[in-house]
Amino acid sequence: MKILVTGGAGFIGSNFIHLLMGPENPHQRDYEVLNLDKLTYAGNLENLANLAHHKHYRFIHGDICDGKLVDSLLESGIEAIINFAAESHVDRSLYEPDLFIQTNVVGVQVLLHAALRHKIKKFIQVSTDEVYGSLSPEAPGFREDTPLSPNSPYSASKAAADLLVRSYFKTYGFPAVITRCSNNYGPYQFPEKLIPLFITNALENKPLPVYGDGLNVRDWIHVEDHCRALALVLQKGREGEIYNIGGNGERNNLEITETILNLLGKPKSLIRFVTDRPGHDRRYAVDFRKIQKDLGWSPIYSLQEGLSQTVRWYLSQEEWWQRIKSGAYRDFYRKHYQERLP
Ligand code: NAD
Ligand code: DAU
Repeated sequence: MKILVTGGAGFIGSNFIHLLMGPENPHQRDYEVLNLDKLTYAGNLENLANLAHHKHYRFIHGDICDGKLVDSLLESGIEAIINFAAESHVDRSLYEPDLFIQTNVVGVQVLLHAALRHKIKKFIQVSTDEVYGSLSPEAPGFREDTPLSPNSPYSASKAAADLLVRSYFKTYGFPAVITRCSNNYGPYQFPEKLIPLFITNALENKPLPVYGDGLNVRDWIHVEDHCRALALVLQKGREGEIYNIGGNGERNNLEITETILNLLGKPKSLIRFVTDRPGHDRRYAVDFRKIQKDLGWSPIYSLQEGLSQTVRWYLSQEEWWQRIKSGAYRDFYRKHYQERLP
């Protein structure tokens, strides 16, 4: 299967490409992957350094909003698209919402229209539980038919994209599937998000900035569990359907922070309560019985196991995250790709 993965140099996209093409996958030879990524600050080719010369993998530096480029890639016999490309950080969306509308909405429309013209067999839009808004403490988890109620420019842009995808299915019978996953953590996550920021700050004995009272709740899922769900959706997901993906890992931010400090043997005095995020969603929780029943998927990692594994990964990959914090990771593209261009 020849697949276009967009945003494959980011956190979840690179984990997904590793899952498909890694030596542990007995079906790795069945896939040919084109990775289209704009390499924003969040794109890091060092995440995929071991695949740079793999004969079934090709990286293309470009923007999903570039219709001509997307068209030319789809001409090469692409059968499926899985769209990870997005501006993904809520805090940034508060200050640069226009960037989020451009990539997360306009970019998706460009992909959809090119994919429709080229009669792509499957399109997966990787969306988020944030499109459902915020839950009260006792409310049941979001279901696929929970009304959309996004509260940040980020989640509003993702909700808009989901509605566009839905409209292409309804209007043109376009073979799209939407997935909505909860908060991911694990290897290769950019250290601006809660878990990698707090692990790397604690390792450097820097303060951990907890927003508000620290009691906001998220459902945490290990990125490998999310990627296994996406691989199943690629094989067996039904056109026009939405699948929620969750981790059975509801915790508040203080609980996560204290677990990280315990795993690293660091003191609680590193915690700093700071001004809350504007519009901060109080709680997310996901009802994912549909994907369990229809596709036979369930998360494998418990949160405790997953966090221990993740902390060990950041401990062993200090060079990787230090190169991000210093900005040196931006050189990889120049060294391995750009100098070979005509
Ligand atoms: P990320 O920010 O780590 O990676 C995004 C990638 O997209 C980067 O490589 C970036 O360079 C690329 N990109 C951005 N704009 C682009 C453009 N215009 N054209 C091509 N490439 C572009 O994000 P992530 O955490 O890996 O999330 C991936 C997807 O999963 C996003 O769509 C996000 O909304 C969704 N999601 C994330 C989470 C989470 O917890 N991180 C949970 C649910 C869903
Ligand atoms: O729910 C899925 C979403 O999870 C994805 O769609 C987003 O792409 C992803 O970024 C994530 O959004 P959150 O806003 O939940 O993740 P973040 O890591 O930014 O924050 C998690 C919680 O931690 C949230 O309640 C805010 C809080 N926080 C975050 C940071 C970065 C802090 O208290 N301090 C911080 O420094």
